[in-house]
Amino acid sequence: MEQSLEEIKWKLNKYKQGHLLNGYENLPENKQKALLDQIQNIDFELIDSLYKRTKKELDLSNDKIEPIEYVDKLKLNGYYKGLENTGRKAIEAGKLAAVTMAGGQGTRLGHSGPKGTFDIGLDSHKSLFELLSDYLKEEGKKYGVVIPWFIMTSEENNDATVEYFAKHRFFGYEKDKNIFFFKQGELPMVDTEGRILIGEDGLVKEAANGHGGIFEALVKNKMTDKMRELGVEWIFIGGVDNCLVKMVDPILMGIAIEKHVTAAGKSIVKANPEEKVGVFCKKNGKPYVIEYSEISQEMAEKRDANGELVYGESHILCNLFNISAVERMGHTPLPYHSAFKKATYIDVDGHKVVPTGPNAFKFEAFLFDAFGELDDMAILRVKREEEFAPVKNATGVDSPETARELYKKFYNV
Ligand code: UTP
Repeated sequence: MEQSLEEIKWKLNKYKQGHLLNGYENLPENKQKALLDQIQNIDFELIDSLYKRTKKELDLSNDKIEPIEYVDKLKLNGYYKGLENTGRKAIEAGKLAAVTMAGGQGTRLGHSGPKGTFDIGLDSHKSLFELLSDYLKEEGKKYGVVIPWFIMTSEENNDATVEYFAKHRFFGYEKDKNIFFFKQGELPMVDTEGRILIGEDGLVKEAANGHGGIFEALVKNKMTDKMRELGVEWIFIGGVDNCLVKMVDPILMGIAIEKHVTAAGKSIVKANPEEKVGVFCKKNGKPYVIEYSEISQEMAEKRDANGELVYGESHILCNLFNISAVERMGHTPLPYHSAFKKATYIDVDGHKVVPTGPNAFKFEAFLFDAFGELDDMAILRVKREEEFAPVKNATGVDSPETARELYKKFYNV
């Protein structure tokens, strides 16, 4: 229900966010309306509790953390064929859809457009989106199907993403027939005092709510309904920035189907105890990913009788879910984590603040927090050189340079 300006002011004062209307009178009418719409959609209690939680450390001391079982793709031998057949049949029957999460801000990379439009410097100068589309089309041909492709964008990059695809004629896909775009949710950013920020455009400064927003976004935007219409039963969800992501994997599907689980995730061996990656484990009997910032040194260094790291199955954001699990998780709120980021904003006195370092909190849900909602999940260990070439940083580790080299080596280009 529309609230009056007086009601909105009252509510803002209650939550000590009255400054949000400081510039209201100077805004053109359409922006005034947009600002009021934004404010009416903010869950102030949620933002307040998230801000208060930014000061709390995560405490796992009362949780039972254990290693997780996994299957090594390279050691499957005879069993391999059986799994592959099961997965292959499901793919040929059109039961697989691919989802690419492309709503992130890509702050570390620093590319001005959506991350998927980034050219990693191959001779072909293909963007990440084009590399992924090449892969999907090629795989589709192998199985005699067109793998429907669902791309999650954010409020910030949706238009630029769709325009980019339109300019490239959707790389042969057909919009709203076998390629779909949908936006993820957003949450306001707050300063170190818990005040919601106003951006340079005079509106509330909001940021995408993390890759964990995928489930809610798929359901709210009716993408899961669309998938059901298409006969999809399994959904591969991966990031846009891993140019070796293998979205169509009969073994991964075969394992999920034969183990009767609603999700299967891929892992790669953690390079060393210090590597900054999250690892799969079990928390209180449920699948969990423990972040590098949460794991104790003792756990990170623990090795088994074969000398392998006990907590060494790195999570690479390559997971397959049954559609029913996605639908369920789309209705289950995930916890939010806070990240301290740089944000340009307009302060309470109307001055523009251009930060030199992080100055504001952004709230994000993590996809892997949903694993705790599953009874069990299968983990498939795959080879790093074949499946993981992420583009995160402008230079150094996980940069266009490292991803390009891995891509060239794998595809022999
Ligand atoms: P990252 O967590 O690496 O974030 O995303 P990022 O936005 O690419 O980069 P930084 O941290 O700002 O430098 C992993 C994957 O999840 C997607 C990203 O687009 C990427 O494919 N993602 C992340 C979303 O789709 N939405 C988000 O809110 C966050």
